Amino acid sequence: MRVLFIGDIVGSPGRQIVQHRLADIVAQRQIDLVIANGENSASGFGITPRLAEELLNMGIDVLTGGNHSWDRREILEYMPHESRLLRPANFPDGNPGSGLYVGTAKNGVKYAVLNLQGRVFMASIDDPFRKADSELAKIPADVAFVFVDMHAETTSEKLAMGWYLDGRVTAVVGTHTHVTTADEHVLPEGTAFITDVGMTGPHGGVIGMDRQGIIRKFLDGLPARFEVASGDVQMNCVLIETADEAPRNAAGRLRARSIERLRFLID
Ligand SMILES: [Fe+2]
Ligand SMILES: [Fe+2]
Repeated sequence: MRVLFIGDIVGSPGRQIVQHRLADIVAQRQIDLVIANGENSASGFGITPRLAEELLNMGIDVLTGGNHSWDRREILEYMPHESRLLRPANFPDGNPGSGLYVGTAKNGVKYAVLNLQGRVFMASIDDPFRKADSELAKIPADVAFVFVDMHAETTSEKLAMGWYLDGRVTAVVGTHTHVTTADEHVLPEGTAFITDVGMTGPHGGVIGMDRQGIIRKFLDGLPARFEVASGDVQMNCVLIETADEAPRNAAGRLRARSIERLRFLID
């Protein structure tokens, strides 16, 4: 089984490169399932119902979120009606939506996607580690592929989650910093891991936003509105391949055979 994960999609340049490239990538690399982080798809801040539908219609099966999931107010009402749009599971109980989705990929394999968010240098939401335990316990036994998007600021919290879930899920992939790390590997018990996939959008600014505004903010410290950057549009992804013939992990899920970083550019 081959699964593509697309790092944080930023603004219209991010959406456009996915629109441009995804169908070919899926066909050429025989992808069975596509997951993407969409927390920055609305001009860098949040996601709207229209944009969620646009991205799902491009061939993305499940959208994950993060600290920006709630930036657009209109998503609050929509989220409970679209189970394929996730937000971090460890937001406090009572928030709309869910952090866990269970579905069937186009190859017939049942899969689950779990979205978590870190707490170091981020909002003090619920414990992502204990929340991972309780959410993973909800996943039916016949689910073969389990994917975790760990949306977090620090390398240490993400790698700790990778080790914590090694042998219990097929992949733990970090998002949020928008900067790709070069540490993709498969942990000893078969869980694929990378600290951060990086982002899908313009790299001509600072983590997706226009560089002049960001530099000014560092110089004067005043509140500022940021615009999406332009130039050097990249689509940063990882491709996870499962070891279908290998024994399942301790939780009965597929092990990863490999994790590969992929970077696509605008033609
Ligand atoms: Fe992001
Ligand atoms: Fe984020």
